Amino acid sequence: MLSKNVIIGQSGGPTAVINASLAGVYTAARSAGVAHIYGMKNGIEGLLAGRILDLGAVLDSEETVNLLRHTPSSFLGSCRYRLPELETGEDTYRRLFAQLETLGIDAFFYIGGNDSMDTIHKLYQYGRRIGSPIRFVGVPKSIDNDLPGTDHTPGYGSAAKFIATVTKEVICDATVYDTKNLTVLEIMGRDAGWLTGASALAKGEDCDGPDLICLPEVPFDLEDFLARVEQKQKTKKALVVAVSEGIRTAAGGYVCELAGSEKRKDVFGHRMLSGTAQFLAAVAGERLGCKSRGIELNTPQRCAAHLLSAVDEQEAFEVGKGAFAIAQAGRTGEMATLLRRSDEPYVCSVSAVPVVSVANGEQCVPKEYIAPDGYGVNERFLAYARPLIQGEVACLFQNGLPRTLKRR
Ligand code: F6P
Repeated sequence: MLSKNVIIGQSGGPTAVINASLAGVYTAARSAGVAHIYGMKNGIEGLLAGRILDLGAVLDSEETVNLLRHTPSSFLGSCRYRLPELETGEDTYRRLFAQLETLGIDAFFYIGGNDSMDTIHKLYQYGRRIGSPIRFVGVPKSIDNDLPGTDHTPGYGSAAKFIATVTKEVICDATVYDTKNLTVLEIMGRDAGWLTGASALAKGEDCDGPDLICLPEVPFDLEDFLARVEQKQKTKKALVVAVSEGIRTAAGGYVCELAGSEKRKDVFGHRMLSGTAQFLAAVAGERLGCKSRGIELNTPQRCAAHLLSAVDEQEAFEVGKGAFAIAQAGRTGEMATLLRRSDEPYVCSVSAVPVVSVANGEQCVPKEYIAPDGYGVNERFLAYARPLIQGEVACLFQNGLPRTLKRR
């Protein structure tokens, strides 16, 4: 049983529902009677610098907690900070554990993706080494949906719903002229194509869906791509294609690098990706002699809280509560997960895995979900993704705009 205080942090790229998970841990901790619920400002980096928020003082009413649930981006602020290896960075761990001791922390929760689970794993290992009783529990989040060990990650469903919606709307717009044109949509997700594949959800009785989908799991061949666009334009003038920001050639280079975009990396060694749509639209426009436009969906994919998936928002809240239950049960070094029991009806529950099996791992779209020609996803992918975008959340509006909780 937890008797004293807990601390929660958020890390990595935000999502539209990462705060629902924060609300989940917070709500569970409050009803368990935890004395103080602290938040780290800007994740572990803020904790190292002693930047702490007393969440109880901020989330002082049910209305505020509700507003938090519907506020996009990381309320506590985020960081991309890699903890040193235990062997070489003992001083960092000593400082961190001293902070936790000063605050009287029983349990530490970190809401993040695969890199953030590396943080949880290292803290758990160091804690064990020094015999610390603090429990370290991970709460999954990622629009990229690339975490191993969980059926899907909170954040994916809402981003997928936004992407499929925008794809549908862009298709309506892009097909108004009776002239040849190509629209290229660039979608986030790094080296995993879950988000790009979600553009296929746009297809239905009122929409043809994207004409081509390029996933990072399939090597990209520029000449083949142009030939397919040209071929399709013989029977359909206006085309919309969805490409992942992370598509790479068979030689391994990112397509956005062909555009000469700067090769910058973050501390985890991830290449910062951007410019693929602009590049492909420009090349296709020139080579095929048609009007073309590149649209990078960019950050709205992960912060469009006016279009949350109700399933996603509820699950984000539940994994937060589930993570607290893990610590409450005396367990540590684990990450809460979502375990799908069936697609139709969609049934999913919260479970857990050792965080070591998630840290730094990556779960890409499996071959079985990809169309035989490599330019799309199949029914299995759609059956997997469709339940995750279901339901709408009525967000609170003020002066014609969605209300959000202002970051402190
Ligand atoms: O990992 C989530 C993600 O949104 C990726 O899809 C994207 O490539 C990356 O973060 C962008 O990160 P940042 O906002 O730190 O540049």
